[in-house]
Amino acid sequence: KAYWCVIPAAGAGRRFGAAMPKQYLRLGEKPLLLHTLERLAAHPQVAGLMVVIAADDSYWTHGMLEVLGKPLLLATGGSERADSVLAGLRALPSSIADDEFVLVHDAARPCVSAEDISRLVARATAGDGGLLAAPLRDTLKRADADGCVQSTEPREARWRALTPQMFRRGPLSAALAAAAEAGVMATDESMAMERAGHRPLLVEGAETNLKVTTPADLLLAEFLLARHVG
Ligand code: CTP
Ligand code: MG
Repeated sequence: KAYWCVIPAAGAGRRFGAAMPKQYLRLGEKPLLLHTLERLAAHPQVAGLMVVIAADDSYWTHGMLEVLGKPLLLATGGSERADSVLAGLRALPSSIADDEFVLVHDAARPCVSAEDISRLVARATAGDGGLLAAPLRDTLKRADADGCVQSTEPREARWRALTPQMFRRGPLSAALAAAAEAGVMATDESMAMERAGHRPLLVEGAETNLKVTTPADLLLAEFLLARHVG
């Protein structure tokens, strides 16, 4: 069985600070976004891609449509990531029922591996959905107002949320809409689902599935892709 994937790609890349949104920066031979789309489209359990781009996007090109013969649809994103994901979910074909699982994957994570996608799909669809996540590696400090250490937080049972995340279309749309309605900015799908009373499964994924946020991340991603890591 194969599932649609919503790819939020409507961010401005402010922290990266480049002249164009980071998803369009060159990563090796081609734009970062194209790496991400090709990886997803190459996976046998991905049925189609719903790419969410900014209303004023001037970088999307038709060349990106040549992605491995899987259907690719475009939707217009919103001001926050959650708005963009919700717009993508709403724009999915009506043939995708509310109880069908969908994947959501950041455009800015070009190094996601096929193995991680497979593991997430297997484990999330066996239950009520879940997300790739990586256990915390460093010692975690809570800062006080002066920038001094207030406390050292236990590292056990702390995870960093990655993508893809995978939930049923209807409940995820409802959870994202409810969070937005309440003025809660959900920074990932799981957060909205948790708020709605669901219990997303943490599926351990590779550290190399990094989100390109800063210029150093882009260099790392380039290295990983060149070495076929991830
Ligand atoms: N995203 C989106 N719509 C938004 C904001 C973000 O579709 N309104 C997407 C980004 O394009 C990215 C993913 O969500 O693929 C993760 O967001 P992030 O890494 O924060 O990217 P940006 O928001 O672009 O970066 P920044 O926060 O530094 O501005
Ligand atoms: Mg952002």
